[in-house]
Formats: sequence, C-alpha cells, structure tokens
Amino acid sequence: MRDIILGLIGVGRIGVMHANNISALNGTLHSRGVNIQLRLTDVATDHAQNIAAGLNAGFLPSVEDLIESGLDGLVIATGTATHPDLIRAGVDAGIPVFCEKPVALNVTDALPTLDYIKHNNGVVQIGHQRRFDAGYLEAKREYQAGELGWIHSLRAVTCDMMPPPVEFLATSGGLFRDCSVHDFDILRWLTGREIVEVYAKGSNNGDPAIGFVGDVDTALAVVTFDDGTVGTVSASRYNGAGHDVRLEIQGSRRTIMVGLDEKSALRSPEASVTFPAGPPHQTFAERFDQAYRTEMAAFVELILGERENPCTPEDAVAASRVADAAQESLATGVPVKVDLG
Ligand SMILES: NC(=O)c1ccc[n+]([C@@H]2O[C@H](COP(=O)([O-])OP(=O)(O)OC[C@H]3O[C@@H](n4cnc5c(N)ncnc54)[C@H](O)[C@@H]3O)[C@@H](O)[C@H]2O)c1
Repeated sequence: MRDIILGLIGVGRIGVMHANNISALNGTLHSRGVNIQLRLTDVATDHAQNIAAGLNAGFLPSVEDLIESGLDGLVIATGTATHPDLIRAGVDAGIPVFCEKPVALNVTDALPTLDYIKHNNGVVQIGHQRRFDAGYLEAKREYQAGELGWIHSLRAVTCDMMPPPVEFLATSGGLFRDCSVHDFDILRWLTGREIVEVYAKGSNNGDPAIGFVGDVDTALAVVTFDDGTVGTVSASRYNGAGHDVRLEIQGSRRTIMVGLDEKSALRSPEASVTFPAGPPHQTFAERFDQAYRTEMAAFVELILGERENPCTPEDAVAASRVADAAQESLATGVPVKVDLG
C-alpha cells in the first residue's frame, strides 16, 4: 500500500467538506493500493482539533508545522487573500498544491503567483469543481460533437439560498469574483472561446450590510465572446428556494440546460407541471457533492502522475480576468473590454 499524506489548510465552510471528501477517498483508493492520510491546520485551533479528531486525521498547530511534517500534497481552503502566500509555501516545499479558487483577490495580485509557480516548476490545481460535474461534462461533449448546432446564446445562473457571512463577503473580492467566476470559467472551458467584453449591473435590495462592505447581493453581466456570441451571467445571494446553479445553452439545433433535475431550485407556475418535485439543493456543497469528490480524486491522480492538471492557475486567472472586468463594469456603469493578458 502506498501512503499519500495530504495536508489541508483551513477548515471553514469548504475546508470541512474537502476534509470529509479526502477521508472518504480511501474507500475507492485502497483497492488501487493507495492509502490517504490527512493532516490539517487552521488558525482556529480548537475547531481544527475537533475536525481532526472526528476524522481520525492529524492536527498541526501551524502551516509551517504542517508542511515540515512531510507531505505529498497540500490543499488550501483558506480565505482568498491568503492564497498567494500559501501557494508559494507549497511550491517551495516541492509538492503539488490544490488551492481553492480564485488564485488571488484580483488578477494584479495573481500574476506574481503565476510567475512564481512557473519559474519554480510548481504543480498547482485550482478548485473549479464544475469541470467535474456530469452535467457540464455532457454539455461540453454535445457542443463539441456539434449536436447543438451553432450556439446563439448562453445563460449562466448562480444563486445562493442565503448570503454567506458578511465577514466572508468583506474579503471575497465581490460577487463576480467570488461567485460568477465559476460561470466565467465554465463558459471558457465549455466553448473553448474567450469572453472579450462584459457589461454588468447590480443591486442591493437585501441585507444593507452587504452594501456596507462594498458588495452587491445580485448582479447580471452581459458577456460577448470573441466570435460575437452573447450570453448572460447572473448571480444572487437571495434565492430562498435553494441553491440554483444552471447553464442554458441555446443552439441553432437544440437547447439544453445543465442543472435541470428533480432537485432544481425552481418551480413552474403551470398547474399541470409537477417537475421538479424533489427537495431543492440548499448549498453549493450539496449541489456539487459528486463534483467536489471527483475533483479531489483528480488531485490525488495528479500527485500520482496519472493525469494532466485539470485546472491550471492560468485557466483560473483567465476566468478572473473576466471577473475583474465585470467588477469594473459594475463600478463604472460602462462595458469593459477584458484584458486577455
Ligand atoms: N469552489 C467552490 O465552490 C468554493 C465554495 C466556497 C468557497 N470557496 C473558496 O474557498 C475559500 C475559503 O472559503 P470558505 O467559505 O470556506 O471560507 P471560511 O472563512 O469559511 O473558511 C476559511 C478557514 O480558513 C482559516 N484560515 C484563514 N487563514 C488561515 C491561515 N493563514 N492559516 C490557517 N487557517 C486559516 C479560517 O480560520 C477558516 O476556518 C475561498 O477562497 C473561497 O473563494 C470555493
């Protein structure tokens, strides 16, 4: 049995989920002769010790102690502002790194990290889990196989059931950078095209505290691709019916919608329509449960040298370039060309 020791930094909203998923990986990896050991740390030490004890994982009191304990891979699930320094620490240790999206709070902050990774031959996978979601994968296959015809419009939707804590929003970089960046990534990944212009509007009709930390609770961006195709990317922190993530791809031959299933957080007003009937997804963790598991399994395969990097830092920064343009358009009220680098 080959032991792979994974270190995890940050056991907040998404870090706890990754910790659980990493622990569950042994269920499938043992049959392949691989055993995962998890060690974790968080500045909230009591909380981290509790999580570690519950998962039979190791606890280390600091990032330095964690890395010095000898790891095969590092998973970063801390707030966005900390990502550049922690990525560097992982690269310096010479181990593959998985870091939650985005690479940094904005593209300007991310570029030195990209250079650092490149010049030190770092291996860094960024957490855009939708690339592992069965619906998006099938949509990409159908698009590439020409089954949809040519695409005239794309409509991406990402809505939380309720806002995350305001303290998180204050450091998230804004709704487009925090939330819609997933849509910008998946639109590039699916179409193979660049988004070249963004025109964004937003509103703040929910908790005024979101406005006080400089964010909007709802926003919509009209995006234009390099071949002239248009799309919309909308997001809200207030979809009380549930966590709603969908992508409608309208083609000349046929239209498909990713995320339309019995647990979709929407209802038809037509009395005869009973679909979707299931309880809606409530959180991102529920909506993308399988995708997050597959994503972490892919990171282990990357460590084992069994696969290509499924989401490079360059991919992630390309999505962040669109997010930055959207934030700028939101602030200025005019369409903004995306700086393609
Ligand atoms: N891929 C996705 O779908 C998705 C979803 C949610 C969040 N995220 C990303 O994950 C990251 C974390 O988000 P979250 O909602 O879990 O945040 P969070 O605030 O709930 O959790 C962050 C955790 O990191 C810890 N921490 C912060 N700095 C630290 C440091 N220097 N050393 C050790 N621990 C530290 C905090 O104590 C906290 O427990 C963000 O970058 C966010 O953009 C991605």
